[in-house]
Amino acid sequence: MATPIRRRLKAGLVSAALIAAVSAVIALLQTGVPASGLGVLYLLAVVPLALAYGLATAVPASLVSMAVFDYFFLAPRESIDPGNSDNWIILAAFLAAALTVCVLAERSKREARLSARLADEQAALRRVATLVARAVPSQELFEAVTREIGVLCGADMARLERYEPDGTVTAVAAWTRGDAARLAVGRRFALEGASIAQQVRETGQPARIDSFADAHGPIAREARSVGIRSSIGGPIVVGRRVWGVIAASTWSDDPFPPGTEARIGEFTELIATAISNAQANAELVASRTRILATADDARRRVARDLHDGAQQRIVQTIIMLKLAQRDLPADHPAAALVDDALAQAEESNADLRELAHGVLPSVLTHGGLRAGVDSLVSRVSIPVDVAVPDERLPAGIEASAYFVVAEALTNVVKHAQAGHAEITARVEAGALRLGVRDDGIGGAEHAGTGLIGLGDRLSAIGGELSVHSPPGGGTTVEATFPLPAD
Ligand SMILES: Nc1ncnc2c1ncn2[C@@H]1O[C@H](COP(=O)(O)OP(=O)(O)OP(=O)(O)O)[C@@H](O)[C@H]1O
Ligand SMILES: [Mg+2]
Repeated sequence: MATPIRRRLKAGLVSAALIAAVSAVIALLQTGVPASGLGVLYLLAVVPLALAYGLATAVPASLVSMAVFDYFFLAPRESIDPGNSDNWIILAAFLAAALTVCVLAERSKREARLSARLADEQAALRRVATLVARAVPSQELFEAVTREIGVLCGADMARLERYEPDGTVTAVAAWTRGDAARLAVGRRFALEGASIAQQVRETGQPARIDSFADAHGPIAREARSVGIRSSIGGPIVVGRRVWGVIAASTWSDDPFPPGTEARIGEFTELIATAISNAQANAELVASRTRILATADDARRRVARDLHDGAQQRIVQTIIMLKLAQRDLPADHPAAALVDDALAQAEESNADLRELAHGVLPSVLTHGGLRAGVDSLVSRVSIPVDVAVPDERLPAGIEASAYFVVAEALTNVVKHAQAGHAEITARVEAGALRLGVRDDGIGGAEHAGTGLIGLGDRLSAIGGELSVHSPPGGGTTVEATFPLPAD
């Protein structure tokens, strides 16, 4: 406990210096003014002491000041005995005034400190709430909250940890005051021995450990190795489950003041809100993706049924009609009818092929996005440059990307009056980026069902669609598809 002793010693020295200084001033002034009226000047020493060191220093300093004043300036001088009742009244009045002023000064200082602390806390909460509202990536939020809690609790280190289903805990984010070594992040710890994580897990309540000196277990060992003396922490409750814990730690011999752990509560509620928002959003994207995948599967089935059923029969009909055409003499009355039937069967076959292509072409399923794009490009009359890699992507992404190119290319033909178009695709930073550009009249809007439908498809899988189409400046449709992590 070196620090409190040093602090008390310093308070004593400062008190002595201030009392001596005021005494010197009184000694100078007493030639013109009666000394008995100058005792009040000791307030100039006592009040700063009350503000800087509290009543424990200010009260003894008041008594010492009174004794010094009595000894040096009240008759009989150089005697501790006040001598007469007038002097007693002067000393008692000074003491009463000094104590009252000190108590008031200390209280106003305490209130000022409390309101500064509340203001800091509100500002920190506002910063965190802004991050939650902006739905920043979870890691960014976790790091910001860990830092805010560390600073606010006057801690030296802080860490956010997530409970895993196997009963361990993973360190997610950490903060350290200054450049000191950080607590581990990304590491898993078994919940053995003493730790805030273990206590919070057990009780679901804020927790504190005032000393790690004799504690065992992996977290306690790590705490000792980085100089942590004591820690506090609180639970992050998402839904009804204790999702994780935030712990703040200090290197100081003095544990955190009582109640510090309760101040973490509002922050952990904000994190819990962000986590449940992110989970709800992820679940929504997952369910929309499933719906889309089911719809694409149904399309694939319809395309296959068309190909294997109706198309095969029409092809057989065409073959039979061709045989009949060959066997019938040209002047036979049925020959013209057979010619007509053959022409119609061939047209139906072409229509059916187009229909199957629109539903979901088999070339996409077999050859991937590159083959699908090539088949779309082969149907348009203007020159189109294609820079699409051959690599295969998840079936759902290929289907969605194919529909984007099909719609954008149809729009180029229908609306753009373009002389040239370009299709690009590349996989980068965990996403497929697709672009369809033309040099036409521009002015495209999300007005028709085509572009709106593409936007819906993209947002269903967590992607984005952007259309840049200044009048006269051509049109660029860009789509980003997030790819699954592995
Ligand atoms: N490449 C383009 N160049 C110029 N204008 C375009 C282009 N693409 C779209 N537009 C304009 O934007 C509008 C909206 O396009 P969108 O594809 O949403 O609907 P649509 O093509 O009119 O109808 P649908 O796609 O439902 O058959 C179009 O009507 C057209 O005026
Ligand atoms: Mg369209």
